Amino acid sequence: MPEPLSEPLSEHLLEIRDLRVSFRTRRGPVTAVDGLSLSVAPGEVLGVVGESGSGKSVSMLAVLRLLTNPNVTVSGQVLFRGRDLLTLSDKQMRAIRGQEIAMVFQDPMTALTPVYTVGWQIAEQIRAHGQVSRKEAHARAVRLLSDVGIPDAASRVNAYPHEFSGGMRQRAVIAMALSCSPALLIADEPTTALDVTVQAQILDLMRELNADGSAMVLITHDMGVISQIADRVLVMYGGRVAEDGPRRAVFHGPRHPYTWGLLDSVPRVGGPRLRRLPTIAGMPVSPGSLPAGCAFAPRCRLSHDRCEERPVLAAGNGDAAHRDACWLPPDDRASLRLTARAAASDVQDMDSEAAS
Ligand SMILES: Nc1ncnc2c1ncn2[C@@H]1O[C@H](COP(=O)(O)OP(=O)(O)OP(=O)(O)O)[C@@H](O)[C@H]1O
Ligand code: SF4
Ligand SMILES: [Mg+2]
Repeated sequence: MPEPLSEPLSEHLLEIRDLRVSFRTRRGPVTAVDGLSLSVAPGEVLGVVGESGSGKSVSMLAVLRLLTNPNVTVSGQVLFRGRDLLTLSDKQMRAIRGQEIAMVFQDPMTALTPVYTVGWQIAEQIRAHGQVSRKEAHARAVRLLSDVGIPDAASRVNAYPHEFSGGMRQRAVIAMALSCSPALLIADEPTTALDVTVQAQILDLMRELNADGSAMVLITHDMGVISQIADRVLVMYGGRVAEDGPRRAVFHGPRHPYTWGLLDSVPRVGGPRLRRLPTIAGMPVSPGSLPAGCAFAPRCRLSHDRCEERPVLAAGNGDAAHRDACWLPPDDRASLRLTARAAASDVQDMDSEAAS
């Protein structure tokens, strides 16, 4: 019997509403995720970017109910196919993880157990979610390993994870994800630890998974990766959404000063060489001391009185799907970006003159 729906059906595959995650620490409460709302449509790739500590991993671990820290408090709603994952039993959640939602993390050992062979682990995953004989599951594991480019899969299937290289382990984890054709794949920095060639292969595999209909939330520091694979982009800062929208809109008409900084930090392939790589001045905000107003204000060259109030995430003029959380007038963003860039460049020139 299908589970009764505890929430009204959402048109989205995944819809996160006002997710908050805080940790009780010895130094006081730490708010790692502060009212995150996002959605992913079936088959869509959402790229999530943000500096280290912006709450990307913690929010996805909360979605998957993998935050086991006893000092954590999670609130909000995580609607997956209309059901709030935060209210499901552990058993219901286990059935969803690995079958409807698959995960790939930066460290593939998070998903692999060192004491079992890679093939056994893939076969068990297949058997856990379908009526398949041990022999058939093993044969499928070999095919999957071969599909993800593991050479000599028929014999490598019996190897232990430590006998695989980092790239091979990551492929094995992707093979596990492929084994259940998940409706949603959550991938957290899946290519960061890998060399460039293997990175490209892993991205190709993820594209294939997406072409077969899986939606994806892809977390990465790498704007280049996002620009290649994402349909939509979400920029996080201080546990909040700074900006989200269709990829083209965010790359070609970024609206939030933090996104400007991120994009200006990316060297352009084939473009004019920058005299120096701009960086975003100032330190990332600490989740232990989030300002009441705009979290980016201490680093923003355009902050003004109103920024002491927390900006709401809203669409500017034009595209309703492109939203940002900033008080600057929506019509003036392009010229204000140039102003902010010029100010940053003046400060860098002064810094380098002082240093020489
Ligand atoms: N168990 C914990 N106790 C206290 N604070 C935590 C805990 N886990 C995470 N945090 C804090 O939550 C914030 C968000 O962490 P998170 O791992 O989500 O960042 P991230 O955006 O994934 O960064 P990175 O890009 O480095 O992976 C960080 O400031 C981190 O220090
Ligand atoms: S709300 Fe204010 S401080 Fe925040 S990004 Fe916009 S201008 Fe800067
Ligand atoms: Mg992380």
